[in-house]
Amino acid sequence: MGTYAIAVLPGDGIGPEVIEQAVRVLQTIASRYGHTFTTTSALVGVSAIEAEGDAISDATMNLCQQSDAILFGAVGGAPRYEGPNAKIQPARALFRLRKDLELYANLRPIRPLQALLNASTIKAEVLQGTDFLVVRELTGGLYFGKPSEIRETSQGYDAIDTLIYSEAEIERILRTAFELARARRKKVTSVDKANVLSSSRLWRRTADRVAAAYPDVTLEHLLVDACAMHLIRRPTSFDVIVTENMFGDILTDEASMLAGSMGMLPSASLGTRKTAHGLFGLYEPIHGSAPDIAGQQKANPIAAILTVAMMLRYSFNLKQEADAIEAAVEQVVNAGYRTEDLREAGTEVVRTQEMGRLIAEALL
Ligand code: IPM
Ligand code: MG
Repeated sequence: MGTYAIAVLPGDGIGPEVIEQAVRVLQTIASRYGHTFTTTSALVGVSAIEAEGDAISDATMNLCQQSDAILFGAVGGAPRYEGPNAKIQPARALFRLRKDLELYANLRPIRPLQALLNASTIKAEVLQGTDFLVVRELTGGLYFGKPSEIRETSQGYDAIDTLIYSEAEIERILRTAFELARARRKKVTSVDKANVLSSSRLWRRTADRVAAAYPDVTLEHLLVDACAMHLIRRPTSFDVIVTENMFGDILTDEASMLAGSMGMLPSASLGTRKTAHGLFGLYEPIHGSAPDIAGQQKANPIAAILTVAMMLRYSFNLKQEADAIEAAVEQVVNAGYRTEDLREAGTEVVRTQEMGRLIAEALL
């Protein structure tokens, strides 16, 4: 039994609805296993810009620093803050959290549930047995490289973004991937564009060097375009995929479709900082704010709920409790309950709150 401090940042769009259900499941775990989870909520994204003048305030950054883990919903989805001329973008909250807290390893597991194989646009026989983990580098590359700007020249406008990686940044994310592969099926696929980009050539060279320290793990190199194809052609062949920030962003949206819906996929962002309980981390469903369905109780809370399972596993070392959440989700899906995103003949479509309640009940 332990006491854990969690900063809760529901954010915008469907963020608050799905995080409410995630917290409900977390508190169900607390009462069943005798833990104490102390949650403190704060604003991020559009709501923070409007109330506090920035996408994430210094006070909220401090709250996060002092917590054992962060539960994050989604930010963005308000066009008035996202046009090309917006001064403060809601996504700045994410970038500041990732960068300032040095959360460089973003883990996105893809394991379609058996009962949802037919919900994917990919054939069930191709999906059967898919179980891989994407390790996306999260604090480097095009997202943070300078310069990044639009410039006025005598010929009109120019724009520049910078893709820069140090060998040390590449090495630490590759080590994370190899360590994780050791506890799985011992295969790492390193994804790059080494036929074109210098940063990818350094990436590939570093991957080969790091691999020498892990003789028990097999390393495969794939070009990112080929990887995009193989993800839907032979998804079962992957175990751990490791890649740079933007490739990881794109490939994980593609990979999410293997699980039937983006509403099923959790993520963890980790660094090296340890708390009294485990690794400090930020936990976030990958789906984003979905403004078109916000406030209607139509969103799928399963990604947010599975995000709590990842938090229990990586930040609190509560493996049994994490397994229990995953089993409860599977039980409810097997019983035929679905949210709108997974509507299918012969199933019962329930609202966000109802899905959260069913999963919490399955835990008791
Ligand atoms: C993600 C999201 C973010 C990203 C956006 C919201 C900035 O797409 O976490 O994958 O590109 O990293
Ligand atoms: Mg993305």
